[in-house]
Amino acid sequence: MSSQEIPEKNLPSEQDTAHGAVAVAEDPFADPGLPPHKPRVQDIDERAAKRSERTVALLFTLSMLSTIGFIASFVAFPVEKIVYVWPLGHVSALNLSLGVTLGLALFCIGAGAVHWARTLMSDVEVADDRHPIEADPVVKAKVMSDFAAGAEESAIGRRKLIRTTMFGALAMVPLSGVVLLRDLGPLPEEKLRHTLWGKGKQLINMNTNEPLRPEDVAVGSLTFAKPEGLEEDNHEFNNEIAKAALMIVRLQPQDIKDKRELDWSHQGIVAFSKICTHVGCPISLYEQQTHHVLCPCHQSTFDLSDGARVIFGPAGHALPQLRIGVNDEGFLEALGDFEEPVGPSFWERG
Ligand code: FES
Repeated sequence: MSSQEIPEKNLPSEQDTAHGAVAVAEDPFADPGLPPHKPRVQDIDERAAKRSERTVALLFTLSMLSTIGFIASFVAFPVEKIVYVWPLGHVSALNLSLGVTLGLALFCIGAGAVHWARTLMSDVEVADDRHPIEADPVVKAKVMSDFAAGAEESAIGRRKLIRTTMFGALAMVPLSGVVLLRDLGPLPEEKLRHTLWGKGKQLINMNTNEPLRPEDVAVGSLTFAKPEGLEEDNHEFNNEIAKAALMIVRLQPQDIKDKRELDWSHQGIVAFSKICTHVGCPISLYEQQTHHVLCPCHQSTFDLSDGARVIFGPAGHALPQLRIGVNDEGFLEALGDFEEPVGPSFWERG
């Protein structure tokens, strides 16, 4: 803003400048006022106004023609007609022509209206002062007295039974909406707390689909397993494997720091849930020197030699361990289900 546009009362006085004061306004928040009004070319040149009028009329005429084109396309193009249009490729002639003509019709109306408003409609600047939001005391008193009169006429103060039941009815109506939430789907009930693992279920190698023997699990390797009987053609396969997927690792028994982990292992073979306890991604990266596994989603890291506790990342708790043993035929088997829900820690709180 130039000094010419600053109201005079906000400019420093001669006395201020004489003492070296810079141009500091008395009131930095004072209304700077409106810049001087400049007439548009259409306001002073009749030929320019005529040109604008013709442009607006042309846009509205184009809109009318486009609408006629829309109707003609609807009649002319059979539904099955396909045309090649670069860069869209092969498209339905009917859909394309309907879309283009309707779009053009609406665009021309909008463009014509905007051009009309910007060039020909009244350009007078109007100031509308803000009024206080609060009603004046007379209006407030009137509202309060009307309210009191209405309450008196309705007898809500005296008719306690009506008042109580009315408040009860109003309070209960929103419950209908809460009940409708039930339509979001069946409740999970206990399904998230249990997996297909159970006593005697053999551990099946997910790559070979064969039951695992202890000698199949080499030190330093990471093997994924599923419960016996869970086949991929089962329609519940995805739901069940999302809870039951296992990571099998063989450690040197002396490397296992956690006593319960050692008790639940077999000859150093430990089985942990593959489902990350943060938000449930499948864990897939194993660092054999440190016995750390890493979730690729948000880098939660678990120490498989120490009860799969979290040593880094956002996961809230350790990976659940499955207690395993060996059956009479020498195959690895579960000795029960997980003792806690697998996956995100939300379910632990239920
Ligand atoms: S899901 Fe594993 S770290 Fe987020």
